[in-house]
Amino acid sequence: MGKRFDLREQVGVVIVGAGPAGLVLGNLLLERGIDCVILERRGREAVEGRARAGFLAAHSVRVLTEHGLGTGVRERGKPHSTCLFRSDQGEFTLDYGRLGRREVHTVHPQQELVRDLVAEYLRRGGELRFGARAEEILADGRVRVRGGEEVRGRYIAGCDGRHGAARAAQAARGVRTAHRDHRVSWLAVLVAAPPSLSAVGYALHRRGFAGHMARTDTVTRYYLQCPPGTDPADWSEERIWAELATRMRTGEFGPLRQGAVLEKTVVDLRSDVLESPGADRLWLAGDAAGLISPSAAKGANLAVLQAELLARALESALSHGDEKGLDQYAADCLPRVWRAHEFSHWMSGLLHGPAGDDAEARYGRALQYARLESLRTSRAHQDFFAENYTGI
Ligand code: APR
Repeated sequence: MGKRFDLREQVGVVIVGAGPAGLVLGNLLLERGIDCVILERRGREAVEGRARAGFLAAHSVRVLTEHGLGTGVRERGKPHSTCLFRSDQGEFTLDYGRLGRREVHTVHPQQELVRDLVAEYLRRGGELRFGARAEEILADGRVRVRGGEEVRGRYIAGCDGRHGAARAAQAARGVRTAHRDHRVSWLAVLVAAPPSLSAVGYALHRRGFAGHMARTDTVTRYYLQCPPGTDPADWSEERIWAELATRMRTGEFGPLRQGAVLEKTVVDLRSDVLESPGADRLWLAGDAAGLISPSAAKGANLAVLQAELLARALESALSHGDEKGLDQYAADCLPRVWRAHEFSHWMSGLLHGPAGDDAEARYGRALQYARLESLRTSRAHQDFFAENYTGI
């Protein structure tokens, strides 16, 4: 697909993985005249059809727009600036677009973003090889692809997610990972129904958290906290809607718009950060460099941020022989990554109360409600929330 060149030759950057990180990076490199090839283990249909995140921060939209990748986001994305919280204490809405830095999100389903990015990458003449799984990344810039082929790059960008070859290569070098298992899982459900609320909805409940997030006019995302190890098959459509109704307190606040369940998966909330996102020839971005729990919708936005920083550093290295940007990449990324993790972790504590009724669980739940009450009543807290919720 796109331009074909002899893969025994060395290319500027071999990008492993065609998720948001790899595709933004590839587009930015082509824009700067850097030759690259993207290796993606799955087929085009699978890559373009995978529904995941959907909330783009203002910074991500700026990056996409500045680099000629923003048409789809502008034309089909919907600005979103409110979130509401429900609990047994009632309901309140935060108009975060008027708080903090007065920034909003743009709702643009990830599969649409990925489709836009693939199309533009190919239009720019980039080479993208679907069905090409990187088996091993070697220190000298070679990537072994399943089937025996080797691709050589001056640099390798590991954008192949948390189970990819880039992480394995970093681990083999002795790079350590900081990790947290939040011991919480979400049943993530995609339904064929319009959003039920005009805001992102977060419902705190003794039975567990429930969430509502708009995707398009006809598709909505819901989340139900469930015990780790839950089998999605145990959740029938009836059970899903009954549990959503209970936790979102529809008796008090009005019904949800129902539709067929299109997809249900269980997501374990985990976070980790590699202590170094690269060295020498191999540099990581997106989930490969660190995984963030979805509680504050930061994953795709961190991927865009890292792709932007890495593109700049790789351009300096390849066009001007200056590796200072690459040396600086970790220092540029990590503080922002950790800020996002800190907020995401705080948010996770707000949304998920402890189970049970022993003294520790009662203490934990009381803290959860104190947090919620502070957010409801303190303008300073609301500004801080908004700044972190939309910022990256
Ligand atoms: N070889 C080639 N491709 C691979 C390999 C491999 N060995 N392993 C994984 N891949 C591909 C996957 O098939 C996938 O398309 O790498 C891509 C990684 O994409 P993502 O998992 O979407 O990761 P990333 O681009 O870092 O985006 C991260 O986006 O979905 C949101 O919030 C989510 O945090 C996440 C963010």
